Amino acid sequence: MQYIPAILTFAVLLVIQPASAITESPGCGKLLAPGIKTGGTGFSNDLTLTSNGLTRNYLLHLPTNYAPTRAHGLIFSFHGRGETGAYQEKLSKFSNGDLNPHMLAVYADGIDGQWQGDPAATTDDVKFTLDMLEQISKEFCLDLEKVYASGFSNGGGFAANILACDPVASTKIAAFAGFAGAYYQKTDRSCDATTVPITCNPGRKPIPIFEIHGSADGVIAYNGGPRRNRCLPSLPHFMTEWAKRNGLGSRNESITLDDGRVVKYEYGKGEKKGANTHYWVQGLGHAWASTKANVGGCCSLINGSSLAMEFFEKWTLNGVASRSSASLPSSSPKTAAATSTIKPSTAETKTAQSSKPTNTTSSASSPSPVCPAANGTTLTTTEKTKFQILCGYDTTASYYGSPIYDLRSFGKCIAACEDDDDCGHVSYNGVCYLKRSVKGLKKAGGSANRVAVKLG
Ligand SMILES: *[C@@H]1O[C@H](CO)[C@@H](O)[C@H](O)[C@H]1NC(C)=O
Ligand SMILES: *[C@@H]1O[C@H](CO)[C@@H](O)[C@H](O)[C@H]1NC(C)=O
Ligand SMILES: *[C@@H]1O[C@H](CO)[C@@H](O)[C@H](O)[C@H]1NC(C)=O
Ligand SMILES: *[C@@H]1O[C@H](CO)[C@@H](O)[C@H](O)[C@H]1NC(C)=O
Repeated sequence: MQYIPAILTFAVLLVIQPASAITESPGCGKLLAPGIKTGGTGFSNDLTLTSNGLTRNYLLHLPTNYAPTRAHGLIFSFHGRGETGAYQEKLSKFSNGDLNPHMLAVYADGIDGQWQGDPAATTDDVKFTLDMLEQISKEFCLDLEKVYASGFSNGGGFAANILACDPVASTKIAAFAGFAGAYYQKTDRSCDATTVPITCNPGRKPIPIFEIHGSADGVIAYNGGPRRNRCLPSLPHFMTEWAKRNGLGSRNESITLDDGRVVKYEYGKGEKKGANTHYWVQGLGHAWASTKANVGGCCSLINGSSLAMEFFEKWTLNGVASRSSASLPSSSPKTAAATSTIKPSTAETKTAQSSKPTNTTSSASSPSPVCPAANGTTLTTTEKTKFQILCGYDTTASYYGSPIYDLRSFGKCIAACEDDDDCGHVSYNGVCYLKRSVKGLKKAGGSANRVAVKLG
């Protein structure tokens, strides 16, 4: 009976979030190409592609727990004018495992250091972004419901104003974040920052938009105004127009934080509450809001990168993300791959492939491992720990540590959980995931009873 809450939770998620199912990219199940690295800042992969006849460069970060067996989210982080992708990686820190344990991140270089949307830019960076997404989707295992775009200054304008307003890009990218974004508009009239018409043709609604802007921004002023023959909207105008286009109404709800030095504005109600979210930060200049020193300086009252991460985790392409699906391992049959096939180094990959050619192929195309016992069966290990087997689904949030590839059986996975005091239950889909206890999957008493959830 203790599993009823889990079942109910699962049923509710299914009912209210029909679209939160993982949509895997074609790269799922594909081995990492030789030389492709996983890891934090400094371990990103230098990749290129040709877009509109131009050779373009980007850094691709793969988290240490990258697995082709699992559909990962992806964050584009676009640099400010005159900067580079490498700089943006250090500024936004989306390659830091503590900040972003599961998603891939992309730091591309603009042509002449700038992005479409800047008055001087001439490139089609929307196409470039879609080309990158396509290339990455083919080679790596992405959850296509969880692709995000963010950026600083010109990069923020490119994300939250150009990509978000594009009829096609806005149907492929789930949510957008601007940090001190430059939301330039063309206008024939003189620039009124509070009324300037905003050109925007998104392909869906609502488009989740997150924005942080400093009151002391001396480059892209909070209150907007004329700049470089364009008109910058004030932030209240920019955000309110987004809310209106999104069908969220024109009202915001605000809360004051840090003794009035930060104000958070949210637009939308009910499930859509906060689909547009904006932070005003007193005294912050033209900088990436960070509570710690970074390449851009030091320091703001709020941690913009972690706020943006929280925002991203809430929104998917087709709706609100269930908290529990945000980092679910993939359950697709084709993704039951062998350990050795995802190691990054060339030598290891080759050894693995040549020593186990048949198994690699067959395990990649065989169905998921079957449930090891009848649904609901209670297993008692030799050390008298009890696990209840649930077949066919996993209601739970993220795992901790990394997936364990060499525990190639459900029993071994359970044994690892038994030896680990932090482990509340496991998921096994050919790869072992140790998980803490989770709401709805209550232990029956003490730490003796554990749940083993098998993905189907
Ligand atoms: C804040 O941001 C940094 C990256 O700048 C991140 O590593 C850290 O975990 C974040 N969270 C908090 C609560 O400081
Ligand atoms: C929020 O709403 C108030 C009251 O209508 C308005 O004065 C303010 O400009 C709005 N702020 C933002 C950031 O939209
Ligand atoms: C394939 O894997 C099974 C068990 O996982 C093993 O017994 C068998 O020897 C392997 N076959 C090859 C060709 O490696
Ligand atoms: C296993 O049992 C749970 C709980 O009764 C149920 O929701 C689930 O559908 C069952 N799985 C299978 C494969 O029958």
